[in-house]
Amino acid sequence: MTFDSNAWLAEARALIGEAHVLTEDRGDDLTAYVRDWRGKYHGRALAVLRPGSTEEVQAIVRLAARTGVALVPQGGNTGLCGASVPDPEGRQAVLQLGRLNRVREIDPENNTATVEAGCILQSLQEHAMAVGRLFPLSLGAEGSCQLGGNIATNAGGIQVLRYGNMRELVLGLEVVLPDGELLDLLRGLRKDNTGYDLKQLFIGSEGTLGIITAATVKLFPAPSAEVVAFAGMESLTQAVHLLGAMRRHLGERFTAFELISGPATALVRQYFPDTPRFLERDWSWYVLMKAADGGSHEALQDAMQAALMACLEEGHLVDVVLASNLAQSQTFWMQRENITHAQQMDGGNIKHDVALPISRIPEFVDRVLLLLQQVFPDSRPIAYGHLGDGNLHFNISAPPGVSATAWQGQTDAVNQLIHNVVAAMRGSISAEHGIGQLKRHELALYKTPTELDVMRRVKQALDPQGLMNPGKVIA
Ligand code: FAD
Ligand code: MLT
Ligand code: ZN
Repeated sequence: MTFDSNAWLAEARALIGEAHVLTEDRGDDLTAYVRDWRGKYHGRALAVLRPGSTEEVQAIVRLAARTGVALVPQGGNTGLCGASVPDPEGRQAVLQLGRLNRVREIDPENNTATVEAGCILQSLQEHAMAVGRLFPLSLGAEGSCQLGGNIATNAGGIQVLRYGNMRELVLGLEVVLPDGELLDLLRGLRKDNTGYDLKQLFIGSEGTLGIITAATVKLFPAPSAEVVAFAGMESLTQAVHLLGAMRRHLGERFTAFELISGPATALVRQYFPDTPRFLERDWSWYVLMKAADGGSHEALQDAMQAALMACLEEGHLVDVVLASNLAQSQTFWMQRENITHAQQMDGGNIKHDVALPISRIPEFVDRVLLLLQQVFPDSRPIAYGHLGDGNLHFNISAPPGVSATAWQGQTDAVNQLIHNVVAAMRGSISAEHGIGQLKRHELALYKTPTELDVMRRVKQALDPQGLMNPGKVIA
């Protein structure tokens, strides 16, 4: 039977409203929905569908299941692995969740919020703050990424050290299954041992098993004080020792430990020339450290100062500056948050998002730098990341004079070089960004056949028609 796209679109319009089914034929500009944030993948869509309620999502999913149309769930489209955009064939429909953005309930006593998937992360943080609570997930794209996307990617960010990644923040989920059935797991319980923990399947599944429509997430008491320090050092080993020492001194108050390499700092200064210098001299490595607590600002500042003094005396620190106020803390953070943007402006770079035991990160960097020196001697490693979580973004920028396109052509060779070292050290090739289409073919290289087989069996059981984000994560 031939597919009648006009009839299909008419049915979709009847289900969710004329205004919420966008198509090129109708003159809608779909560019922002079919191109990924990095501009690496350009797809085409049968339509962009913007349902406004869980029931409308169910209706669309049922229509898709009946007619064999593949759906690409999309939140803020800030993902870095090409998981949220359709393929170039123009037969897949983008299911954009942005209109499902209500905060259904905040329960301050239970320290939970029940929120729809299309809620922008920053908006959720603000709603929580309005009742004196913290929703701790925090990342550079928080002004546009959405809770559903954060859950579907199991996002990490800068406070995993203290609060865990998205998986640890989700208590309950509401999911529309690939046949349109509603799986209601929206519970705000911290203990629930009633069989398989089904919500875990959908966290980090990148839209391949169902559509997340709402979640109940954990909140925490909002800290009343935050202090940030910026330190420079010559060796990565020193940074790892500093992390251990600061955690010892500050305990639970220590919330972030972010790494920035000298070349990453230089790149930010090149593209954001207003970035101030925080330390008098340049170092090979820098770390950003944050502490947060419920007491007074002065008490926390004193505790941070005492911890830094102890680290100086113990030989874990050589050069450090403590932000004197909130505005200065923010400029410290800009140095870290602007790396992604500076790399984007700089052009050709091959991104990595690896996880390793924290203790072995210096050895990993030494091994990779040695190999790069041998194989790609002029390439420019731009390293940064969440050292406190053992998560390094070890991106490799094009050698001077090599075009972005030519350098992208080396992606497989560069990935193989780096990811083989990761595998040899029992690390992960994706700590927080996911697999998407970017690393799909690499998954087969680094997962065991048994792991892949179990993943395929789960996919087959939940999505036998293969209509949920096909071509992503597993082929
Ligand atoms: P999208 O990009 O729209 O989608 C991502 C995946 O989720 C896709 O597979 C999509 O199909 C699926 N999906 C989206 N919504 C749903 C839903 N409701 N149901 C089912 N599937 C869904 N990531 C980090 O982990 N840590 C960081 O520190 C970090 N920093 C970033 C900084 C910048 C400047 C940028 C651009 C990105 C950064 N990211 C980071 C990556 C990205 O922001 C995260 O992966 C984020 O969680 C994606 O959310 P999104 O709403 O944009 O999802
Ligand atoms: C980050 O840590 O800044 C994000 O994961 C984004 C990136 O790696 O570019
Ligand atoms: Zn990151």
